[in-house]
Amino acid sequence: MEIKIKAQEKNNQRKVYIKTYGCQMNVYDSQRISDSLSVEGYITVNSIKEADLILLNTCYIREKAAEKLYSDLGRLRIMRAKYKQTPLTIGVIGCIAQAEGEEIIRRSPIVDLVIGPQSYHCLPYILKKVEKGTKIIETDYALEDKYMRMPLPKKEAIRHRGVSAFLTVQEGCDKFCTFCVVPYTRGVEVSRSVEQIVLEAENLVDGGVREITLLGQNVNAWHGNSSSTHEWRLGDLLFRLAKVKGLKRLRYTTSHPRDMDDTLIAAHRDLPMLMPYLHLPVQTGSNRILRAMNRRYTALDYQKLIERIRAVQPNIALSGDFIVGFPGETDADFEKTLKLVQDVFYASAYSFKYSPRHGTPGADMSNQIDEQTKDERLQRLQVLLGKQQQLFLQSKIGTVIDVLIEKPGRNEEQMVGRSPWLTPVVLKTKAPIGTMLDVVIEEAKQNSFVGRSQE
Ligand code: SAH
Ligand code: SF4
Ligand code: F3S
Repeated sequence: MEIKIKAQEKNNQRKVYIKTYGCQMNVYDSQRISDSLSVEGYITVNSIKEADLILLNTCYIREKAAEKLYSDLGRLRIMRAKYKQTPLTIGVIGCIAQAEGEEIIRRSPIVDLVIGPQSYHCLPYILKKVEKGTKIIETDYALEDKYMRMPLPKKEAIRHRGVSAFLTVQEGCDKFCTFCVVPYTRGVEVSRSVEQIVLEAENLVDGGVREITLLGQNVNAWHGNSSSTHEWRLGDLLFRLAKVKGLKRLRYTTSHPRDMDDTLIAAHRDLPMLMPYLHLPVQTGSNRILRAMNRRYTALDYQKLIERIRAVQPNIALSGDFIVGFPGETDADFEKTLKLVQDVFYASAYSFKYSPRHGTPGADMSNQIDEQTKDERLQRLQVLLGKQQQLFLQSKIGTVIDVLIEKPGRNEEQMVGRSPWLTPVVLKTKAPIGTMLDVVIEEAKQNSFVGRSQE
């Protein structure tokens, strides 16, 4: 009898499928939402056809990212008409939800709920309302830390996600770069408290996590109160987290050059568990375009900053973001970007064609660049960045690096781990997941290493 009831419960258990677009902060949010819903009796499934609830956690950063939502919603409409006998709830959450609100339901009436990033803690309550047939749009900016009102992950969920975890410490942005939607989709800059962050880090490590990446749209703008008299900056937080027993590696992303302060640079000097890898987007090498973008630094400021960081941590590998074809960018401006890349040397990088975003000052600028010029510039920049990435990987052949074992490889006795610079490393070892190994790099492939364990 008891078994029968349990089986029935399982059949009745509601299933949620979450599709995540965009940045790592969305990945983290999707996990927190999955944890919240698990308390409400939902299980998270990997198959869209099984789901009773589908949540699309969206990104608005470039036009292409936004277009994807509507094509996915179109496919969902067809899928629902064809296959679904049982009721299906469809929700759009994340940055498009915040930016477009009710317009989403107007364009796609299959959508039942639209929730901006500041209201995720209300999701269980909203779902109950939606079940009664009401459509809900919730895009208010929260005043308090929403994560504080969401349950922490259970051990089982942490283990399932692996030994490397994300932890959002800061959200939003007050910088208003003229190309960017983030200040409008994620609201003002808000930092989470030291206590909340430490509690969450300890919970993750307790569940088997060995590497934590602190996240924020401007993570190094994080600031907080502590028991000491001075206000803490990200560097102070890293020193505190380094004391969490069992944690082996720390990372943070994404940083803004203007918020790279002395404490953070000191952390790169004094904390061996802070990985020597820094994602520090410069966007362009032209001072004229930097000014038009409202980045509030010059190419020289950026290069001097890199010099200061390299002086204390010569092994640091740099990564960056670049935009080509911002309004008014001339060939001479673009050459300055190439020159800066040559001078700095990037171990990895992301580069994009400028995408005009409605509501941002850049979209209204009169001197937009044509697509063909953007394509050509992107191509040239990516060739140069690709060469640097290869040179960086080649330079590690024959050296011994530390690798965190993350998952089994394709072949027997093979495991895949990560280098300090996020490169996957394939090696033969019996060491279990979560072990740190000294590994000799034998070969560099396009995006990975092949290594041999020294143990
Ligand atoms: N806060 C970070 C970046 C967050 S957005 C910083 O200031 O560096 C991530 C990246 O997307 C940006 O660095 C930028 O390179 C790119 N991006 C943002 N808006 C864009 C747009 N309108 N068109 C093209 N790329 C854009
Ligand atoms: Fe966007 Fe980053 Fe600029 Fe903020 S600092 S507006 S997130 S590019
Ligand atoms: Fe995209 Fe929002 Fe992240 S716009 S990049 S998902 S903050």
